[in-house]
Parts: sequence; structure tokens; C-alpha cells
Amino acid sequence: MAVKFEPVLTKFIDNPDQVKIDTYIRNGGYKAAEKALKSMKPEDLVKMVKDSNLRGRGGAGFPTGLKWSFVPKGTDKPVYLAVNADESEPGTFKDRLLMEKDPHQLLEGIIITAHAIGAETAYIYIRGEFFHPAKILDEAIKEAYDKKYLGKNIFGTSNNLDVYVHRGAGAYICGEETSLLNSIEGKRAYPRVKPPFPAVQGLFDCPTIINNVETLCCVTHIVNKGVNWFTSIGTEKSKGPKLFAVSGHVKKPGIYELPMSITLRDLIYDVCGGMLDEKRKLKAIIPGGSSSPVLSADTIGTQMCYDALQKHKSMLGSAGVIVMDDSVCMVDAAINLTRFYCHESCGQCTPCREGGNWLLKILESIEEGTAKPDDIDLLLNACWQVEGKTVCPFGEAMVWPIQAFVARFRDEFEEHIKYKRCPIDKDRSIRR
Ligand SMILES: Cc1cc2nc3c(=O)[nH]c(=O)nc-3n(C[C@H](O)[C@H](O)[C@H](O)COP(=O)(O)O)c2cc1C
Ligand code: SF4
Repeated sequence: MAVKFEPVLTKFIDNPDQVKIDTYIRNGGYKAAEKALKSMKPEDLVKMVKDSNLRGRGGAGFPTGLKWSFVPKGTDKPVYLAVNADESEPGTFKDRLLMEKDPHQLLEGIIITAHAIGAETAYIYIRGEFFHPAKILDEAIKEAYDKKYLGKNIFGTSNNLDVYVHRGAGAYICGEETSLLNSIEGKRAYPRVKPPFPAVQGLFDCPTIINNVETLCCVTHIVNKGVNWFTSIGTEKSKGPKLFAVSGHVKKPGIYELPMSITLRDLIYDVCGGMLDEKRKLKAIIPGGSSSPVLSADTIGTQMCYDALQKHKSMLGSAGVIVMDDSVCMVDAAINLTRFYCHESCGQCTPCREGGNWLLKILESIEEGTAKPDDIDLLLNACWQVEGKTVCPFGEAMVWPIQAFVARFRDEFEEHIKYKRCPIDKDRSIRR
């Protein structure tokens, strides 16, 4: 492999003992938390994370230090930290690895972040189906309490911190930050209207910071290795190590820790060993989980960073990369994703609840060969009826992929209508 990068977040994941606190400590663990709590003020930490340019790894890429700074100064309410470990987006499977293989790395990030924002309670909201990672986390938390890294007067300071694992409710929408808060409160996981934003009025109406698992793991290393180390990795606006979860038609799918300066070409053909079937051509790539707009093969020169992907009218999202060869029908791929979104709509607002079914119906008629030439525009019009008209960004997550499939592969949609059937021969990929 020509691409070389010294992993940090995943450095110890092949060591089965890394889940144990003594091994974690032997490998340098909890030094960052001790340093942060004993020698750094909360505002120093906020500044440090701001200076590092760390952007949230949950999907939106919001600057982490800036988000922390939104907690009202001198508030008399308790402040909460909610860790987003819901990871339900198709194509995304990086946080599970971090929790399963190195749970103390996350706990250390939680301890540091709680100090930075003034929280004494943190909830890890973990996807309901993640039974095994939840068990590992519970054991790690118990070990941390025994060492007095959690509980009262942690690390011999005046800081207190309790951490709870809250099992999710088994729905993708629970990963949206405000429905996650409702779910922790025991309510139906409907997203909330913003503003107010959670940093001001979140869990139990108190200031709450919600961060992704990988984001918090990065915090540990920023404190350990410093801002200069973090900003030396990546591109101008996409700093630090990043986990890419690659699936689909590549020889070596998996989770890879890399700088965001890597090109899609190097990720697919070098890191992942190339196309699964070398006789097939690369056709399409979903770069950042199912809600990121699909790219065509001619964009493989792009860097996998926030800005470059935005220039290609897509996004890094959660960096769940789905690679498709020329055996995949683009209408069928759009149907596959839309079926997921229809099923997962929480049903709170009409454009999303009803629109999803209309989108699916039109896509299915195109695939089955019963659609009329105008139906592609009807499909785009139905997307427009949803986009920007819903309570939460799930509406955009549902329609952006469809819009991109049409924009990049419109000829294939038109051929379905012209020939009144799917033109892709899935076995031989010969167009008829
Ligand atoms: C429908 C939907 C699902 C989401 N699912 C997740 C998820 O599973 N994990 C996650 O970290 N963020 C998810 N997000 C993003 C969160 O709302 C939020 O932006 C993120 O947790 C913030 O953390 P960060 O700033 O560290 O990235 C989702 C957003 C939407 C709209
Ligand atoms: S956009 Fe969809 S998921 Fe979001 S609140 Fe409305 S119905 Fe629920």
C-alpha cells in the first residue's frame, strides 16, 4: 500500500486487551484527562479545541470548540453531555469499532469534554442493536469508577462526573440530536424545532452538548499531542485523523484511519485494493453515508475532505463510503435508499411522511418500466416539495441522494422509460 498513515484513533484496536483499563493506562491512557482536569481551565480547553479546527465527525462537520462555547456562561442549570453513539446511517460503521475495541479512549474524551463544558452528567446514547458495544462500555465505565476516574472528585480534583449508557430505541431518527434528547427523556423520539438549540436548552431544558463518538475520541488526542500535531494532518479546513468506513465493490472493505487529504482514487485503488471484480468498472460512489449525494466515477480525483466534496455538490457526512461498480442500476440504488428513508421517517411532518412514499412510487414505476417521460421531472418536483420544508434535516437526507442520482445519471433514468425496463444487465453489465 503506497498510502502511509500512522493511526492514532485505531492504534490499539488489534489488541484484545485494550478494552481493559490497565492496558489502556499502560498504553498512555488517561494522561490527557489528568492533565486537562489538573492543569487546564474549561476555557483553555475550549480554546484548544477551537484552535485545532476539529469538526464534528457525526455528519454535519460543525466546529466542535465553537459548539462548546455556546453553553451559556455562569448558567445556574446543570449542563449535560450527550454522546451520539446511535450510528444507524446505512454505510456508516466506524463508531462501533471505537466503542468495542477501545472504550476508554471514548471515556477519556468524555471526561475532558465534560470538564470543558461544565457537565457533571454524561449520557452515551447507543444504538439499540449494539448489544456487545453497550456491554463493553458498561464494563469500562465500572472500571473507571473503581479507579476514581468517574464519580466524585475525579483524579483528586473537585470535578464530579457520572456516565450512563442509554440504549437507543431502534430507529435511525434517534441519531438526530434533538430526537436523541427526547428519547433520553423517555419521550417519543420526534425531532424538536430549533431554535432553541440544545447548547442553550437541551436535555431536561438544560444546556446540553451533543457530540459524536469519534469527535470525542479526537479530543483525547488533541490534549495529549497538541494543536500543532492535529492541524498538521489533513487539508486546510479538514484537520486531524479521520475514520473512513468503506463498503461495496472493493477488494478490501473496512475501516481505515487516514488524513482527509486522501483522494477517492487512492482510497479505492490503493487502500482498499481496487475493484472487487477487476473486469468491472467503477460507476458511482456515495462518499459520506446514505444521505450524501452520489458521485460519478469521473470525480475520483477529489480529496475526501469537507470542502472538496462540497465543491462536487456532495459532502463528507459520516465518511461511510459506498463503492458501486457498473453492475448496479442507479434507479435501483435510489429505490434502495428511498425505501430505507420511507421506513425511518418519524412521521411528525407531512412533507417527509407523505413525500417519501410518493418518491418511492415514482422511482419504482421508473424501474419497472411503467413511468412516462415526464415522471423524472415529477420526481424532482416531489423532492422539491420535501426539501427545506420539514422539521429536521431528515427531509434533505431523503431527497438529496435522489436529486444527485438523477443529476449524475439522468440518461439511465431516461433509458428505463424509453425501453420500458431496466437497461442494466446485472450479470454482464451490457446496456441494451
Ligand atoms: C436523521 C439524522 C440522523 C443522524 N444520526 C447520527 C448518528 O447516528 N450519529 C451521530 O453522531 N450523528 C448523527 N446525526 C447528526 C447529529 O444530529 C449531530 O449533528 C451530531 O451528533 C453532532 O455531533 P458532532 O458535532 O460531534 O458531529 C444525525 C442527523 C440526522 C439529521
Ligand atoms: S423530516 Fe421526517 S424525520 Fe424529520 S421530523 Fe419531519 S417527519 Fe420526522
